[in-house]
Amino acid sequence: MKPVEWRDGGLRILDQTKLPREEIYIETSDFREAAEAISELRVRGAPAIGVAAAYGMVLAAQSIQADTTRDFLSELQGIASFFLRTRPTAVNLSRALSRMEEVAKKNGNTSTICESLLTEAHTIQEEEEKATELISGFGASLISDGFTILTHCNTGPLATMGRGTALGAILSAVREGKKISVFATETRPLLQGARLTTLELRQENVDVALICDFAAGHIMHQGRIDMVIVGADRIALNGDVANKIGTYSLAVLAHENHIPFYVAAPISTLDPKVSSGGKIVIEERNSTEVTNVGGVEIAPPGVKVKNPAFDVTPHEYVSAIITDKGIIYAPYELNLRGKYG
Ligand code: MRU
Repeated sequence: MKPVEWRDGGLRILDQTKLPREEIYIETSDFREAAEAISELRVRGAPAIGVAAAYGMVLAAQSIQADTTRDFLSELQGIASFFLRTRPTAVNLSRALSRMEEVAKKNGNTSTICESLLTEAHTIQEEEEKATELISGFGASLISDGFTILTHCNTGPLATMGRGTALGAILSAVREGKKISVFATETRPLLQGARLTTLELRQENVDVALICDFAAGHIMHQGRIDMVIVGADRIALNGDVANKIGTYSLAVLAHENHIPFYVAAPISTLDPKVSSGGKIVIEERNSTEVTNVGGVEIAPPGVKVKNPAFDVTPHEYVSAIITDKGIIYAPYELNLRGKYG
């Protein structure tokens, strides 16, 4: 199940909102449909979003009818801003869009721009795939035989194009022959843990138990968890980490229960322009995601809702950040700068 694929001159996206019940693919050559797939989480997970947007920019470039290179670039820039608004927290999206814009600007010739953009989109995809292989290997080195691991949201192949980040580390440890058990949080409101993480782990025959988000503290307090490992959507220079809503609560609980709390993400998730987590833009999503479960309204009509999709975990709670450039420990600002760029 490839989350995103360039196929027959168009974009093919696996609709993750339908998983695990149905495996449905969207095939499109309309950039608006690609943007809709990102904003509706048909494709989701920071690395996969970046790749989908890169291919979306190729579709956009193919559709632009402009007389001059200047007009072409100005229209493309407008479409990049449109993509950027779909999921503002994941740094992979803005990074992929900037790279695509740079390539277009450097090219200068409208007849060859589309080809150059497609090459760049393929490169972004390959880089993400390679990064997850490396992260998985480094992450697996921290996992001992017999470990029980708690993870949040979905950070596997569906989210990343490659092997995965946090889930990639678990899958690599299993492939190395270690016996691992996993607790996967359901991850309200959109249930990526329940729908996707359990699916990916079961496909690899990994022992997984699904828990309600609020069961995590109880299970940690029982002494059943050896490690918590999660992904990241954006990392500030001081090591603060933005990730799926609920991550911060897990980090505090892990700290309270003396359990190591690891973050796994490509070094490109670092945003050097953001000095600390408080400056990271947190995506607010539609209220119906909270008031409805499986298409059924469960709250009184018109109830006020707050639906932040991400939270920020202060770096003090992070035992290490597992990247494609190795495992990074505190002091984060110094050590992240050392590995970045
Ligand atoms: O809203 P989502 O499903 O895109 O959120 C996904 C996460 O929060 C992941 O932990 C993160 O993107 C890292 S994916 C390797």
